[in-house]
Amino acid sequence: MKKALLLAAALAVTTSASAAGKLEIFSWWSGDEGPALEALVKLYKAKYPAVTVDNATVSGGAGTNAKAVLKTRMLGGTPPDSFQAHAGQELIGTWVVAGRMEDLSSLFKSEGWDKVFPKDLVKLISTNGKPWSVPVNVHRSNVMWYNPAKLKAWGVTAPKTWPEFLKTCNTLKAKGVAAPLVVGENWTQQHLWESVMIGTLGSANWENLWAGKLKFTDPKVVAGFTTFGKVMDCANKDASGLSWQQASDRVIDGTSAFNVMGDWAAGYFATTKKLAPNTGFGWAPAPGTTKTFVMLADSFGLPKGTKNRTEAINWLKLMGSKAGQDAFNPLKGSIAARTDSDLSKYNTYGKSAAADWKSNKIVGSLVHGAVAPESFMSAFGAVIDQYVSSRNSAAAAAAAQQLAVRAGISK
Ligand code: GAL
Repeated sequence: MKKALLLAAALAVTTSASAAGKLEIFSWWSGDEGPALEALVKLYKAKYPAVTVDNATVSGGAGTNAKAVLKTRMLGGTPPDSFQAHAGQELIGTWVVAGRMEDLSSLFKSEGWDKVFPKDLVKLISTNGKPWSVPVNVHRSNVMWYNPAKLKAWGVTAPKTWPEFLKTCNTLKAKGVAAPLVVGENWTQQHLWESVMIGTLGSANWENLWAGKLKFTDPKVVAGFTTFGKVMDCANKDASGLSWQQASDRVIDGTSAFNVMGDWAAGYFATTKKLAPNTGFGWAPAPGTTKTFVMLADSFGLPKGTKNRTEAINWLKLMGSKAGQDAFNPLKGSIAARTDSDLSKYNTYGKSAAADWKSNKIVGSLVHGAVAPESFMSAFGAVIDQYVSSRNSAAAAAAAQQLAVRAGISK
């Protein structure tokens, strides 16, 4: 009798423990970048009040630090229950190839996601028809940000091409603006490079580059490096010490006129800095990229062998849901990955991005994982660093070509 009671008590404990549950999610969205994710966590807690959520973050823009920590956890056999990774080659070329991720086909089926996510996006997160992560958003990388009142005071407008940018840069320098453009640490320089290259080559050649049809050593690409060098001559000299948020701050306070950054900057301006679109901050497609939308998407996957699989699946379901995406994206500066999102919840910037997403030519971002395998990406930062100090376009192009061959992008 006593034994039966003990057994019943033990079972009761087990049941309540599993009903209580835990969930660890892993990302680089902390501090200034945290509010959108926190809104999603709040929704999760409301739905699953007994589950304790460990919102583990490793700060550092573009995931530079988080990806390194994730690697040690994945290889050490202690994966988080779900983690952030960019849609595309970043996840597919690493943890998917290594057999560490769960195939999410049945989840996509049960949630009807094949029908609500754009076909090309589903293709980007899939191999052989199997999806590996759930996209929570679509970000645009090729945006030039400015402070409308400051531009007016200086008597300039957002330049439409890179040659026009260089002229505006000279005008501003003559007016005493020492650094018309602000850039930050290495990845933000790669981010700028991407916009300069697409704005110089055109979107079709950008696609050719990643399809192995255009070599980095082609004179067009070499010329793109040279333009990038001239653009960098308009930038601040203390770039390597600045985070993307600190660089954005310099646009708002009028130290610099322009910054090329993804539209998480819109989230930062509107959500964190409480600035109004069009008056507190302004935007335009990066020079030369009008009618082109350079996309990237944040997504979360399910590593094999997680401790809290059910809770993680519930997390993924929420991320992919309409309610989840429309809670997250208006704060983040991105648009929903879903095609049925409620645009009335988005500000003027979000609405304009949603319109461009529908009408523009879509190409993928290099820096944010969409077009090249991580083996290329992780080494490309050094090419940019070296270029910025040497300004040797031919050498940088040759080094990039070598990386492309090694990564299997080019022959
Ligand atoms: C990107 C990411 C964005 C934002 C940004 C800055 O790679 O996709 O959501 O977090 O980095 O950290």
